[in-house]
Amino acid sequence: MPKLKITQSEKLYAEAQQYIPGGVIGIRRPLNFVPGEYPIFFERGKGGLMWDPDGNEFIDFLCAYGPIILGHAEDELDEAVAAHMKNGFCFNLAQKWQNELAKKVCSIVPSAEQCFFVKTGSGATGAAVRLARYHTGKNKILQHGYHGWGDWCAPVHGGIPDHVYKDTISFPYNDLDALEKLIAENKDEVAAIMMTPLSHELNHDIEMPKAGYLEGVRALATKNNIVLIFDEVRTGFRVAMGGMQEKYKIKPDLTVMGKGMGNGYAIAMVVGKKELMQSMIDGKVFISSTYFPNSLEMVAALKVIEIMERENVIDAIWKKGERIMKKISAAIEETKAKAHLSGIPPMWFISFPNVEGGDSKAYRNRRVRFFTECIQRGLFLQPYHHAYIAWRHTDEQLDKAANIIKESLSIVMKELP
Ligand SMILES: Cc1ncc(COP(=O)(O)O)c(C=O)c1O
Repeated sequence: MPKLKITQSEKLYAEAQQYIPGGVIGIRRPLNFVPGEYPIFFERGKGGLMWDPDGNEFIDFLCAYGPIILGHAEDELDEAVAAHMKNGFCFNLAQKWQNELAKKVCSIVPSAEQCFFVKTGSGATGAAVRLARYHTGKNKILQHGYHGWGDWCAPVHGGIPDHVYKDTISFPYNDLDALEKLIAENKDEVAAIMMTPLSHELNHDIEMPKAGYLEGVRALATKNNIVLIFDEVRTGFRVAMGGMQEKYKIKPDLTVMGKGMGNGYAIAMVVGKKELMQSMIDGKVFISSTYFPNSLEMVAALKVIEIMERENVIDAIWKKGERIMKKISAAIEETKAKAHLSGIPPMWFISFPNVEGGDSKAYRNRRVRFFTECIQRGLFLQPYHHAYIAWRHTDEQLDKAANIIKESLSIVMKELP
């Protein structure tokens, strides 16, 4: 397959590097894709498709790392936002849409007695941690998963004082004994367990909870006066409207959601027990931002939820995901490629396990080759991050993507067996 023409992307990237450190920040850097093979900029999107500045078309299976739950440029949503914009949306005081959205959210998310809205997942996880620390009078956080760029949880520690990140301790998923041991080792010091209720770590297979695992975590938290926080930034409004807690019938004390609820408009929230939320009103916990009360994103979220409920988007996404996952599994079996599919229909990941073991680079070469073949054929996936399904992915796009995956796997198998 010929290499993609990405000259416009490269030109924009060169320009960006003069003004922006690294050109693009965070995990949008070319380094996180296949450098030299992937576009570096996008220009526009519609539904399940996107176009880069060189005019290449892609089926988008990254969905902006999760927020795109409906599809790009969803007319009904954007029209509602545009109409709202005409009356202003940034005031000193709250507007009624805050109440409407809060009422709606409390009717959807099983553990939500109250909620408040922020703009990003990092803001929401930071707020939840602060509430838990204040409420329990303890400092340490046991965590599993990615929770954003806050000092307490950033995956790398440059610029963060030691004592801050040292109060955060990671625990392995699906291992109750390990969690119990950590709680015992940090007796009376753990304020919160913050975890993604399913495991979706970068460059790892997606792992679902073993039978009894989430119940066990819940029981450990209750027994030890620890606030249980579910980070459902990816799973809320995606696995189910009310997230994993709805599907698995577990009530955390606090929950953080974002991404899907806005379909790209910047909104996130903390929901949970009234008793915990109330500590915000005694003036001892400060959570505030100029933009938190902006109603534009609240109106967007209300419209996203309206569309999701009316169109039964969650069911549709599960069905679409099942359709492509079945085809990918069959393709792996048929081609005998050394690839592995994990996850659930709304979010799944194709990985290349180190079957040779040790220092062998073979699996990495297969991975690079696979994702390069995919992008050259117009399929936008990322080597280290799982894929997402959007409601506007058509059957035609799903089947085309499955064919591209099969073709790319066969090439990998033939050339890098
Ligand atoms: C599970 C999870 N929590 C928190 C965050 C941080 O959210 P944001 O990037 O909106 O700050 C992310 C972002 O990817 C996430 O996936």
